[in-house]
Amino acid sequence: MYSPALGIDIGGSGIKFGIVDIEQGTLIGERIKVDTPYPSTPDAIASVIREVVSALDWKGDRIGVGFPAIIQDGVSLTATNIDKSWIGVNSEELFHKTTGHRYYVMNDADAAGIAERKYGRIKNVRGTVLMLTLGTGIGSALFYDGKLIPNTEFGHIEYRGDLAEHWVSNQARKDRALEYDDWAKELADFLEYMILLFSPRLIVLGGGVSSNFDVLKHHFTHLRAPVVSASAYNDAGIIGAALVAYPELLEAFV
Ligand code: BGC
Repeated sequence: MYSPALGIDIGGSGIKFGIVDIEQGTLIGERIKVDTPYPSTPDAIASVIREVVSALDWKGDRIGVGFPAIIQDGVSLTATNIDKSWIGVNSEELFHKTTGHRYYVMNDADAAGIAERKYGRIKNVRGTVLMLTLGTGIGSALFYDGKLIPNTEFGHIEYRGDLAEHWVSNQARKDRALEYDDWAKELADFLEYMILLFSPRLIVLGGGVSSNFDVLKHHFTHLRAPVVSASAYNDAGIIGAALVAYPELLEAFV
């Protein structure tokens, strides 16, 4: 029996916290959402984490974090939708120093992907599977035969002369004042390009817009790969973050 873990999903616009039942892959109680501070410096984010973790009176030893950057050995190597001063910072050490708890950190989209791999759409799917999270940016998690190839960053692929996420993230939809249907058509074009490059057996969409999936899915039916929404919808990020705090459960996936 694995005890619940605290999952923290750090995004460009919000930071979400939830206690996760690791056996079931579900949230226990309500999630808490706090605006990402601006500027989103390491100290500012660490203080938000300190406040919420202490308000939750979290006594467990498992806290996992999904972070919107390339993460290697706890260190952020990039910073796109987060303050540039994160580059080179070891967030596992910083959060530990700030709150006294131990933290396990992974790229946010990879974390959402491992939630789907363990509990949802990617469970027992062989071959290539691509998960994309559509939020402030576009995050990606690529699996082959159930193993994650970490830090893929397909939202940063050059697309129509710019970063793909500047065209088709959920933020881009808002910035470009696109209707959902027009945005979904553009997203379908981007997915077609991803399919050309990787020939995935399955594409899973997560992030804030995945809960509108039912009204958008007809835009994806002509594509060569089936497109589904994350089974945990936007909570995949929190659930996956909590799972990151159990490295012993990830051995088959990462
Ligand atoms: C970041 C990724 C992240 C994605 C979603 C991108 O801008 O570079 O690391 O996964 O946004 O948050």
